[in-house]
Amino acid sequence: MTKNPQKPWAATVLTLFPEAFPGALGASIIGGSEKSGIWQLETVDIRDFSVNRHRTVDSPPAGGGPGMVIKPDIAAKAIDSVAQQSRPLIYLTPRGKPLTQTRVRALSKGPGLIVFCGRFEGLDQRVIDARQMEEISIGDYVLAGGEVAAQVLIEACVRLLPGVLGDAESATEESFEDGLLEYPLYTKPREFEGRAIPEVLLSGDHGKIAKWRREEQIKMTKARRADLWAAFDKGDDHECD
Ligand code: ADE
Repeated sequence: MTKNPQKPWAATVLTLFPEAFPGALGASIIGGSEKSGIWQLETVDIRDFSVNRHRTVDSPPAGGGPGMVIKPDIAAKAIDSVAQQSRPLIYLTPRGKPLTQTRVRALSKGPGLIVFCGRFEGLDQRVIDARQMEEISIGDYVLAGGEVAAQVLIEACVRLLPGVLGDAESATEESFEDGLLEYPLYTKPREFEGRAIPEVLLSGDHGKIAKWRREEQIKMTKARRADLWAAFDKGDDHECD
């Protein structure tokens, strides 16, 4: 891989658990493309900005209730220690706007991301407002913290960077790129545990194959994702959000 002449896409992750990185981001093509200079990953330990010798970063919620809240002064100091370089500042939380392939595509075209990973009950609202953080959720379920969500977000962006995926087609003919789920895939052997590859795929007729795949995409999207199908059917930019 040749060196990237432009400034690489850069992810800075603010976390209480820097040891969770690179995690999945160090493996396979995503890890390899960081080594080759297409993108870079940096972590900032939020605890380094604590002001006491116990390195505490949290405090009980005002008004009562369970758990602890990350203090705004400590979070702000950690955020302000990072050179923003026009990158969006994202706070990962189940309360955020659901992540879509459309947002991923836009983020991958920018200079990179600064991602704040929550833990405990969450982050003081005043720092979210004061630093105009973009709140993003990776789905309607609750993780123990934002670290795995950060890896999901970063991986989704990095695989779209030029030079990361070998086969130019593999990023375009897949779920969400045209607003439908991906068609089913088959490979050798011709028969597996009594199940044959659909005949049409062995016909060599590219027109028929394309038609069959489209029909499968539509069938699957209707059955599994009424929301995506409704948007597609309406011609909503053929998108998923
Ligand atoms: N942190 C905890 N759960 C999360 C989710 N679903 N999305 C983003 N960040 C989270």
